[in-house]
Amino acid sequence: MRVLVTGAAGFIGSAVCQELGARGHRVVGLDAMIPQAHPRGTAAPEGVRRVDLRDTEELGALLRDIDVVCHQAAMVGAGSSPADMPMYAAHNDLATARLLAAMASVGVDRLVLASSMVVYGEGRYRCPEHGDVDPVARTTADLRAGRFDLPCPDCGTPLDWALVDEGARLRPRTSYAASKLAQEQFANAWAGQAPGRVVALRYHNVYGPMMPRDTPYSGVAAIFRSALEGGEPPRVFEDGRQMRDFVHVSDVARANVLAVERVASRPADGGGFEGLNVCSGAPISIAEVAGLLCAGLSGPAPVVTGEFRSGDVRHVVASPARTADVLGFVAEVPPDRGLREFSTAPLRPAS
Ligand code: UD1
Repeated sequence: MRVLVTGAAGFIGSAVCQELGARGHRVVGLDAMIPQAHPRGTAAPEGVRRVDLRDTEELGALLRDIDVVCHQAAMVGAGSSPADMPMYAAHNDLATARLLAAMASVGVDRLVLASSMVVYGEGRYRCPEHGDVDPVARTTADLRAGRFDLPCPDCGTPLDWALVDEGARLRPRTSYAASKLAQEQFANAWAGQAPGRVVALRYHNVYGPMMPRDTPYSGVAAIFRSALEGGEPPRVFEDGRQMRDFVHVSDVARANVLAVERVASRPADGGGFEGLNVCSGAPISIAEVAGLLCAGLSGPAPVVTGEFRSGDVRHVVASPARTADVLGFVAEVPPDRGLREFSTAPLRPAS
């Protein structure tokens, strides 16, 4: 198939291009080469065309003869400042809207969208007494007092985490998360209008070789890695018991190829929007992540600081069941092995 990949020079996009090529697909790669992801002045890699989706007349021509669009381009990060809202809206929503309109105008009706577990907001919680409960977000006073666990709204008992499935309510908590949910919703509306078919892949915490070095937009694995390289211990926030699902970039790339093949093989009959978790299925605490990276590099032991970031969720870990069912995707890299290997893998230079 002929697949147009946006964000093709990025950490995940470049792995997706490679995997698509390895499976015999022909790739047309685009990237805006934004300075938040690439050092200023970096040329687009060979085979990738510099195109900013927000502002281009070329899209119609680039989409000619394309079977599937795999839309990885996005502005990522914590998204905790209102000042960043226009940037997220422009890169993630306006750009996606332009892409969808151009696709419809030339009759490209299959889309794989890079979404994120941030659309869920807080994960799923269970009270030993009351079962599944809808948690109330932590206040700054709770966090300052070291009350990191969410309490049961009925009895106050600290809640246990459970696996989030795709039917969970979508409650984005940051501007980044809001922009990712809006992107899903534009894609869902487009699937009905075009009509088209969409798989939105909700990535959990992606890590692996060529992850961007420590920047305000980096995930915690790269931040810990960068600290260790500088001889500093990783600083683990809260009490380190917050749970995430770390999924290797090679698995994410494979999930994308399966999704591309799925959207291509089903009718674009307008009923087709599917949101799917992309995760390892092996939840891990942030303290364990730090410990594995320290062990891999024989670096200084992690420090649990009790610091906190106000927008952070306590736990978010995913059920891999639906994606296994729909795409036949099962992660191959368990986080204990992958994170150990990541401790010495190359990183992308800082911007
Ligand atoms: C991350 C991404 C988010 C992405 C999502 C899924 C960032 C900033 N966040 O969210 O954009 O959509 O994964 O891929 O890129 N922590 C420390 N020490 C630090 C930094 C963070 O202990 O120095 C803790 C945080 O408090 C949090 C956990 O590590 O509890 C994870 O943080 P982070 O990597 O930012 O990931 P998410 O919030 O899960």
